[in-house]
Amino acid sequence: MKNILYATSEAVPFIKTGGLADVAGTLPKCFDKKYFDIRVILPKYACMKQEWKDRMEYVTHFYMDLGNKNCYVGILQMEYDGIKFYFIDNEFYFSGNSPYDSAPWDLEKFAFFSKAVLSVLPVIGFRPEIIHCHDWQTGLIPVYLHDSFQQNEFFWNIKTIMTIHNLKFQGTWNVDTVREITGLSDYYFTSDKLEAYRDGNFLKGGMVFADAITTVSNTYAEEIKTPFYGEGLSGLLNARSNSLRGIVNGIDYDAFNPETDPLIAQNFSIENFKENKVKNKIQLQKELGLEENPDAMLIGIVSRLTDQKGFDLIAYIMDELCQDNIQLAILGTGEDRYENMFRHFDWKYHGKVSAQIYYDEALSHRIYASCDAFLMPSLFEPCGLSQLMSLRYGTLPIVRETGGLKDTVEPYNKYEGTGTGFSFRNYNAHEMLGTIRNAERVYYDQREEWNKMIERAMQADFSWGNSARQYEEMYNWMIGE
Ligand code: ADP
Ligand code: GLC
Repeated sequence: MKNILYATSEAVPFIKTGGLADVAGTLPKCFDKKYFDIRVILPKYACMKQEWKDRMEYVTHFYMDLGNKNCYVGILQMEYDGIKFYFIDNEFYFSGNSPYDSAPWDLEKFAFFSKAVLSVLPVIGFRPEIIHCHDWQTGLIPVYLHDSFQQNEFFWNIKTIMTIHNLKFQGTWNVDTVREITGLSDYYFTSDKLEAYRDGNFLKGGMVFADAITTVSNTYAEEIKTPFYGEGLSGLLNARSNSLRGIVNGIDYDAFNPETDPLIAQNFSIENFKENKVKNKIQLQKELGLEENPDAMLIGIVSRLTDQKGFDLIAYIMDELCQDNIQLAILGTGEDRYENMFRHFDWKYHGKVSAQIYYDEALSHRIYASCDAFLMPSLFEPCGLSQLMSLRYGTLPIVRETGGLKDTVEPYNKYEGTGTGFSFRNYNAHEMLGTIRNAERVYYDQREEWNKMIERAMQADFSWGNSARQYEEMYNWMIGE
């Protein structure tokens, strides 16, 4: 049996702000239990739903040094869907109404978490062969493991993987503060280790000290070796390119299943989507105050509202786009400027544009199921899960060819009769508008072709199977079998 520990700052169903939670909460279920014992560890946040907190079972607690503080480390556990989850409890660090706040507080919080993850292992008697770390919040695990934990035989030869879900977030602050927070010695704060551009950098530490680095699509694995996508770390990624690989994300095909999804108005399948998918659209138009018109092409957006997602392009052509016979349903939260932009267009084009500025899991399913197309013109996109969810519900993605969007959406080719969506290359608003209008033409004038694309989209397989096998191979190889 091979023991693997996933260390993450979020995981469904307990806490989620983005796709990382989907990955960390659903990928562990997809390994062969005969060979792999995969467990997940995350913080116990005060903002988790009470129903989850009530189900956690207290294991034990102890005290741990961090910098010049002595901190309480509580351990709770819960088995969910066949997977054992551990939760680190500390009310000082994990209070607040969201998992993240701002630097340097978040750095201290996740330095604590990273050191605690290692410290609890001998206490719970679980010795992983591999600790699989996700994003900057867990970047210090490979560093601490390399440091004082080597004094304890228990930790010898534990391997680490650093998975980059988003290189933009690295967890940085000035070196002096980071040294003080982490308690790491000067040795670690040179430019070949944690220091980058005069800051201490958690993710860089993880990338330097981990045995392997992965990211969530092949294209993003290539892109981040270039300065444009490399966020200042492309040099290091090139230097470590032999240890870097891309494994594309999947989604949970049981939770996102148009035939059984209890959250949508009308279930449908590849056999009956022509009659039944549109019933969802009519319901959604009613729900969102859009003009009730089964023939209008409805375009969906479900997203964190940040500049990563390409909303500047949308802002630029929104007035032009709204002259067309289309409707837009937007669900998202994030930066004020984008929230306000969509609120403004909702007001200006009422009945045609509907902006729902909040987080709502059930509504997200209804949008994936009900729309004709899904717009995701990201500036960069490590993988992207929303386009996979859309494909699953026969909602054709319109995307920019970057990162995982490029690897998962096959552009429509009218000559060969192939493709599952529409895509454009450059980060240019009119190139995007041209592509949306191509999609409109196929939708309005060649419905047969459109329906064939829906069939291909619904048949595409982005369940976890393939990717989980690639992770298994990597785990086996690292463990030496
Ligand atoms: P990222 O991780 O960069 O935010 P992904 O496409 O990988 O992008 O994953 C986003 C996840 O968050 C998807 O599961 C999407 O449905 C969900 N999501 C984003 N915004 C909202 C929202 N306002 N309400 C419900 N779900 C949302
Ligand atoms: C990040 C990326 C997104 C990816 C997700 C899960 O949040 O922005 O592209 O799908 O992580 O890996």
